[in-house]
This record gives sequence, structure tokens and C-alpha cells, in this order.
Amino acid sequence: MTDAKIVAVIGAAGAQGGGLARAIVDDPHGGFACRAVTREPASNRARALAERGAEVVRADKELEQASHLAGAAKAAGVHHAVWSTQQNSRDRGALEDDRFPTLQGRYKVPHWDAKGEANQFFIDHGVPTTFLLLPTFWDNLLTPGAPQRPQRGPDGVLAITAPMGDMSLPGIALGDH
Ligand SMILES: NC(=O)c1ccc[n+]([C@@H]2O[C@H](COP(=O)([O-])OP(=O)(O)OC[C@H]3O[C@@H](n4cnc5c(N)ncnc54)[C@H](OP(=O)(O)O)[C@@H]3O)[C@@H](O)[C@H]2O)c1
Repeated sequence: MTDAKIVAVIGAAGAQGGGLARAIVDDPHGGFACRAVTREPASNRARALAERGAEVVRADKELEQASHLAGAAKAAGVHHAVWSTQQNSRDRGALEDDRFPTLQGRYKVPHWDAKGEANQFFIDHGVPTTFLLLPTFWDNLLTPGAPQRPQRGPDGVLAITAPMGDMSLPGIALGDH
């Protein structure tokens, strides 16, 4: 039995959650233990976390998880929650706007919109919350098969393609957040 406080990491097998999960398990004397939440405990990434000392548990349905998180934070009297979220693209344009397709019947950008939608759970529960919006992970540029990977143009120069004109692209390394 350990006295370590348990940190439940949603998306622990992913990029952002994985960085946090590894930071916890790699610091065994830090006073925290990692409960890694994943939809697939048998995946290679989940098993790798288990081998490093995480407790791996299965859970699904993103909005339901966020709702439970907000409710639990309220019930536990959490003084300050940090909800890593994304912009709800539907705040910027109507679902009926057919310049972008509507996906799953309710989203324009599903992996953003669901997180932005979940902000309301924390607001409704009255949990003091910081809504954390992070920029692009530079690590994406190194992920095999990722669309953001730099491609060498006809001039031999490596370049990334992003639909943002001449605006700057903010970013952060996974190990830095
Ligand atoms: N990548 C970026 O550049 C970037 C930049 C800024 C912010 N973010 C934000 O950071 C967060 C994590 O992104 P990431 O890049 O780490 O993504 P990721 O590598 O795809 O990891 C996300 C994890 O969430 C879990 N997941 C996916 N869909 C789910 C669902 N419907 N229900 C429950 N769990 C689900 C998956 O884990 P299992 O398959 O193990 O269940 C997946 O490994 C997101 O909020 C994202 O918007 C990402």
C-alpha cells in the first residue's frame, strides 16, 4: 500500500496525457501515482505505461468522462481545476454552414468541439477552473505518418503545409508542458 496521491490521467496513451503519465511514473518518490485511463488497456502504449508502474484502467466516452471529472471536482471541493481543452469551433460558425462538413451529426472539428463543449460542465458545477488552450505540439512534426510532418519540396527545402497564410504557428514541446 502506498501513500502516494493518485493522479488519474485521461488519454494517458496519447501524446499529451502520455507526457504527464510518464512524468509521474518516472518520479516514484514524487508523492504521486498514475492511474492511466485508456479505452484499450491491451494496447502497446498502455502496456508500456503499466510496465513503468502505472495502474491502467479502461474507460470510454469523452464527454461522459469530462462530466464525471467536473462533478467529482465539485464534490471533492477542488479549489482549482485545470481543464486542458480546445476551442469549440461551433462558437465561430453555425453547424448549418456547409463550407465545412458536419461530422457525427453535431461536430465541425470533433476533437476540438467535444472538449470545448465540456467546458460547460465545469462552469455549470461552479468549479474554479483554468481552461488551458495549448498550441501545436512540435512533436507532431516528428510523428511517423503525421500529416504535419515536413515534406521536402522540389527545391529540396523541408516545409510544412498549414492553411494559415503568413501567420506564425505557435507551438510547444510535449516535454515542456
Ligand atoms: N496534438 C496537438 O498538437 C495538440 C495541440 C494542442 C492541444 N492538444 C490537445 O491535447 C489533448 C490531447 O491531444 P493529443 O495530441 O495528446 O492526442 P492523442 O495523442 O490522440 O491522444 C488522445 C488520447 O485520448 C484518447 N481518446 C481519443 N478519443 C477518445 C474518446 N472518444 N473517448 C475517450 N478517450 C479518447 C485516446 O486514448 P485511448 O485510445 O488509449 O483511449 C488517445 O490516446 C487534446 O485535447 C488535444 O486537442 C493537442
